[in-house]
This record gives sequence, C-alpha cells and structure tokens, in this order.
Amino acid sequence: MSQDAAKKAAAEAALKYVEPGEMLGVGTGSTVNFFIEALARSGKEVAAAVSSSEASTARLKAAGIPVEDLNSAGTLSIYVDGADEANHRLQLIKGGGGALTREKIVAAASRRFVCIADASKLVDVLGRFPLPVEVIPMARSYVARELVRLGGIPELRRGFTTDNGNLILDVGGLSIVDPPRLEAEIGLIAGVVTVGLFARRPADVLLLGGPDGVRELTAAP
Ligand code: 5RP
Repeated sequence: MSQDAAKKAAAEAALKYVEPGEMLGVGTGSTVNFFIEALARSGKEVAAAVSSSEASTARLKAAGIPVEDLNSAGTLSIYVDGADEANHRLQLIKGGGGALTREKIVAAASRRFVCIADASKLVDVLGRFPLPVEVIPMARSYVARELVRLGGIPELRRGFTTDNGNLILDVGGLSIVDPPRLEAEIGLIAGVVTVGLFARRPADVLLLGGPDGVRELTAAP
C-alpha cells in the first residue's frame, strides 16, 4: 500500500466523526487534502469550516465548502488535521507544512481533535522528525541560540514564510521524552510564536491508515 493510499484511508475514516450541519475545523497538508475531497464527495452538508491555512481555505472553497472566521465560529465540535509524528499518548509533532500556529489555535478551540495520518507517523519517542518552531523574523538568531542550549540543532527553513509572515526553524537532534515540558520551555523563549509540539492539547483520536486498514487510537483517560 502506498503512503498516499494510507493517508486517504485515514482521511476517509474521519468522515464518521463529522455530523451534518456542524461547523468543523480543518487542518493543513496532504492527508487533510484527501479529507477535504472525501468530505465534498460524501454529500455531508457541514455548516462551514474554519481553516488553518490559506492553502486549505483555497481547497475548501474550491470544493464548495463555506469557510468561516474562527472569531465568529466560537467553539468547534471537531477539528480534523494530520501530523508529522504521533506517539501513543496522541501527542504530536506538527508544522511540516508550516501551518502550526493556526493549527494550534483551531485545535485549542475545538472540543475533539481527530488526527489522521499514515501508520509510519507513529513513533515511541517524538523527535525523529525535526521539530518546527515559528519565530518572529528579528528573533531568528536569538531563538536559534536558545534552541541549541536546549540540545537542538535548529535549521532555518529556506525560502519559506508562514501565513503569519514569520519564519520556521526546524529543530533536529531532539529526543523528546517529556513533550509537555519541552512545549512549555520552547514556548517561553522570547520571539517564539508557536512550537510544533501538540502535547498540552494532544489529539483525542488518532486514525492511522496502513496495509491492514485503519487503526483507531484514543487518548488514555
Ligand atoms: C502542516 C502539518 C501537517 O499536518 C503535517 O505536516 C502532515 O502533513 P501530511 O498530511 O502532508 O503528511 O502539520 O503544518
């Protein structure tokens, strides 16, 4: 089974969590693109979607799904998004597509976070995927030095600006044994907008597509 087929299977499995008539949050990335296609094809009429990126907004509109501003949407019942890595506690690394800030906001504003991914994204310890950190441009070098102090190897994502006009540092060399702690620690560095660790607000459900179908993991109570 190809990675794309696994992503598509996970995306289609997320449809069962979507109730017609509700407002939902929609993330960013290739797995989410499969979800947007599947949602449009399903005929399930949602009230509107709150999008986490300009790219997803364009895709949602092209698929005929209305897009609503988060400020007028209030609390969302469900947020569907992908991940770059997930552990068994459903804590995530996100931001490979650079949309981590808006993704974290929409996830925070949602009652249930359904994460969709192919099975290769499940790891025992987060950190093999370089951790994306969105930074204010003038703070780039300072934040990079602070990240080195924390044991990371930051690398500027060249030629990339986020939807918020900021930069991304991709931080390698980390073995993240305490994700909530590192999330807080990096989040406190002056100049950091968002760290792509989703540990304080992990996913509630993780749908992993693979050769044996879609595996469903839920957060431990
Ligand atoms: C974007 C993200 C994506 O969810 C993550 O990069 C996974 O992408 P894909 O579904 O293409 O594998 O965090 O900022």
